[in-house]
Amino acid sequence: MKKLYFGSNLKMYKTIRETTEYLISLASLTGDISREEIELFIIPSYTSLERASAAIDHNLIKLGAQNMCWEEQGQFTGEISPLMLQEAGLDLVMIGHSERRHVFRETDEEENRKVKCALEHGFTALLCIGETAEDKKYGAGPEVLRMQLKKGFYEVDPSHIGKIWVAYEPVWSIGVSGTPASADYAEKMHKEIKQCLLELFPEQGAGIPVLYGGSVNPGNAEELIVQPSIDGLFVGRAAWQADKFNTLIRSAMKAAGR
Ligand code: PGA
Repeated sequence: MKKLYFGSNLKMYKTIRETTEYLISLASLTGDISREEIELFIIPSYTSLERASAAIDHNLIKLGAQNMCWEEQGQFTGEISPLMLQEAGLDLVMIGHSERRHVFRETDEEENRKVKCALEHGFTALLCIGETAEDKKYGAGPEVLRMQLKKGFYEVDPSHIGKIWVAYEPVWSIGVSGTPASADYAEKMHKEIKQCLLELFPEQGAGIPVLYGGSVNPGNAEELIVQPSIDGLFVGRAAWQADKFNTLIRSAMKAAGR
């Protein structure tokens, strides 16, 4: 049986204290679920990372950063180095979240440098991709996703594949004004993504988990997780209360026959 992935990006929410309380509560609520069956990860703000990392058992909850510079040090005011994230004891780095791409204008070339740097420093690299509403209108979603994958994973050494995760998050589905993708649409795009990953990495591509994100909520989590090409759920707002996220994880697991 495949492992199911559940994670949340806390964006620019929660103070250090709130983050630590949330993580302790989530670890305790989900502590009885076998980590052979699920991978649970949370991506808090930079300032919370050090305290959060010390406060939780990383076997229960993996911790990630929301972004990272591609250089170890230098004249990059406002950026965070992979060495600094290593110091905080992190497991993964998220790269190319829709808000980074669209609010902060990050490019595929930059995401590629970050992916390679994250992998070289031993982190799991979670690359986020997704088409805009306009791309979708023109039926160009699959091409856009392929472009983001091809550029994002350009010259990535196949020996790192075990540490690559992908999150498919259509831009039009994210946040308070987003509309969740239907399970059928999400499955169609996940199939495209998996096909492209196989073309990029013929030997190992099939093992890369692909998570769906974008307005995941208690009403759609079950129909999404049962899709054959969806390996997990990347949840925003619906995960930011530990008890609600715990309930969502359990109902999704049940729907998936666990
Ligand atoms: P949302 O956020 O679930 O609140 O739409 C998803 C995301 O940005 O990862």
